[in-house]
Amino acid sequence: MKVLVVGGAGYIGSHMVKRLGQLGCTVTTLDNLSSGHADAVLAGELVVGDIADTALLHSLFERGRFDAVMHFASFIQVGESVQHPAKYYENNVTNTLNLLNAMKAFGVLRFIFSSTAATFGEPQYSPIDEAHPQRPINPYGRTKLMVEQALADYDTAYGLKSVCLRYFNAAGADPEGQLGERHDPETHLIPLVLQAASGRRPNISVFGTDYDTPDGTCIRDYIHIADLCEAHWLALQSLVAGQDSQAYNLGNGNGFSVQEVIDAAGRVTGRPIPVQYGARRAGDPARLVADSRNAREKLGWQPQFPDLETIIGHAWQFEEKCRAGRG
Ligand code: UFG
Repeated sequence: MKVLVVGGAGYIGSHMVKRLGQLGCTVTTLDNLSSGHADAVLAGELVVGDIADTALLHSLFERGRFDAVMHFASFIQVGESVQHPAKYYENNVTNTLNLLNAMKAFGVLRFIFSSTAATFGEPQYSPIDEAHPQRPINPYGRTKLMVEQALADYDTAYGLKSVCLRYFNAAGADPEGQLGERHDPETHLIPLVLQAASGRRPNISVFGTDYDTPDGTCIRDYIHIADLCEAHWLALQSLVAGQDSQAYNLGNGNGFSVQEVIDAAGRVTGRPIPVQYGARRAGDPARLVADSRNAREKLGWQPQFPDLETIIGHAWQFEEKCRAGRG
């Protein structure tokens, strides 16, 4: 199978590219390297370019004869999306439509889309299943929901089949230690906690201790990057088998508080983790936990690494590699 992976040099995309290579696919990565890393592309060809570039897309599709496209290239910071919505609407919506239009023009009609729990907004109930109302509360979540809606229309009108995968908290790293999370700036909890453990930063700030949760800190559903990749592969198989467009929530169904993550990281690393307790971060819901029964039942998805300490352990293996200057 020939797969175009857009954003294949980024955190989740690079793990997917490696996995597709292992599965015997012919992979082409398209990435503008605005936040990705060329050395993270471990399989196939890397084309450095942007999905805003229609001529580039057309030449790629002309020679690529892709069976499917996976799209990981988007901006993901909620706070930044509030400050700079234009950046988010332009890249996450306009440029994605450009990609979809190129697919349509060349008859590439299978699309796997990285969506997010942020499309749901403030949870009405927990765990969150696919029937939960989608009322995003920030531009980031709105951009992802807009693409989900466009995809439904592109299916009806053009037969472009898609699977939208709504990640909860993507975490962990390649179990074989080759890849991991390298955002700059880093905003995600687990890599920040591990940088505090390794001494690369002085401490971890906990954003809020007065939430309505057992220990007062926010609860999230951390899902291992390898399990996310497996869901993408199964989603692609479902489209190849002729199944309809779908959306799935992806998480383990287990919530862990920020404090529990820090405590688990202390056990995994065997190091003291300096903590600073601070104020809430704007826009953080108290609890986000996925109900992923649909993905399990309809895709046959079975997370292999649901254990929090395993997720943190793989991320720690990569953090140690980065600290040694080999990341
Ligand atoms: N947190 C801290 N200190 C930090 C960083 C994070 O206490 O330095 C807390 C956050 O407040 C939150 C939890 O740790 O309660 C997890 O935060 P992350 O930033 O790691 O992840 P989010 O849950 O905020 O974000 C994730 C995805 C986003 C997506 C969002 C949807 O990473 O891309 O879910 O709600 F938009």
